[in-house]
Amino acid sequence: MIPLCIPKMSGNEWKYVKECFDTNWVSSVGKYVDLFEEKFAEYVDAKSAVVTMNGTAALELALRTLDIGVGDEVIISSMTFISPVNTIKYVGAEPVFVDVCRDTFVMDTNKIEEMITPKTKAILPVHIYGHPVDMDKVMNIAKKYNLYVIEDATEALGSEYKGKKVGTIGDMGCFSFNGNKLITTGAGGMLITDNDEWGNRAKYLSTQTKTVLDNGAFYHEEVGYNFRMPNMLAAMGVAQLENIKEYVNDKRAHAKLYNELLKNVKGITTSIEKEYVKNCFWLYSILVEDEYGISRDEMMEKLQANGVQCRPFFQPVHLMPPYKECKHGDMSITNEISIKGINLPSSVDLTEDEIKLICSLIRL
Ligand SMILES: Cc1ncc(COP(=O)(O)O)c(C=O)c1O
Repeated sequence: MIPLCIPKMSGNEWKYVKECFDTNWVSSVGKYVDLFEEKFAEYVDAKSAVVTMNGTAALELALRTLDIGVGDEVIISSMTFISPVNTIKYVGAEPVFVDVCRDTFVMDTNKIEEMITPKTKAILPVHIYGHPVDMDKVMNIAKKYNLYVIEDATEALGSEYKGKKVGTIGDMGCFSFNGNKLITTGAGGMLITDNDEWGNRAKYLSTQTKTVLDNGAFYHEEVGYNFRMPNMLAAMGVAQLENIKEYVNDKRAHAKLYNELLKNVKGITTSIEKEYVKNCFWLYSILVEDEYGISRDEMMEKLQANGVQCRPFFQPVHLMPPYKECKHGDMSITNEISIKGINLPSSVDLTEDEIKLICSLIRL
């Protein structure tokens, strides 16, 4: 079986994790927690980084830090993993859905303004499968209407928009280190921001709003959360970060080969990279168009029967029971690509021969 996307752990992961065991620093404080935040901030070029137990927690923390809650609306695409939409609900706000672009699969920024109301508080662009949203447009709209921007960069670590790492363009950026992500800590997340005040507040909220009094007792001024990542997992993260540049290069090389081998296949639309971005191609994706001859689901069956693990695109969130009543604009592209899209194997360690085999199955 060629897996969809599995981690690569060939560096110092075990050495650093073992050190946590050997020294008994296995829980939520320790040198690797601090080091992971520091090194991550350095890699993406952000002032502050706050590590969390998963990407969903990072997103919830971002919303809470910016005081987004009951009565507020947050604009987001419906073509996404459900996590960021759920976090909007966790804080009591309402998601408002916009359509996506057919070529990049991410938020269509031309459709944001029509969904803005006096209740709109933030835009939450999700850079799905690795391609960045057109952030200049998002930031201009945010400025015009005085909105916050929280980037869900969980699927786009390593991607760049006009030379800047995604996640650093909006007010806050969130990442995930789940097992299928570019780098993994088993489970984990990170919130980044260039605003020190927000960074400090996010850390405070994520650590139970704990203040230590002179006599060592804990004092809590307001309700806090336990979103902390254990030192052991942060140790894995530090080791993974040491090889991140190589991982991004490998994934980009895989996407290039996929594109070359699939470019002339009638009825297959390949992944793109707009001229102003660098796509990390977290999950290399294709659309199976009507002219292809067989449906997306039939193609998936064929790939799977031949040992190639693949996954259909996200089902639109605005069609899921908890979100059916939420406001949304025209969703024609979202609805269309959700039944045509496939994610193909995209592990860092995927080989050229495996890509050739997958493409030969797709070429019929
Ligand atoms: C777009 C998106 N947002 C958020 C998340 C949440 O991350 P986590 O699973 O670490 O909570 C994920 C992935 O899992 C995701 O794909």
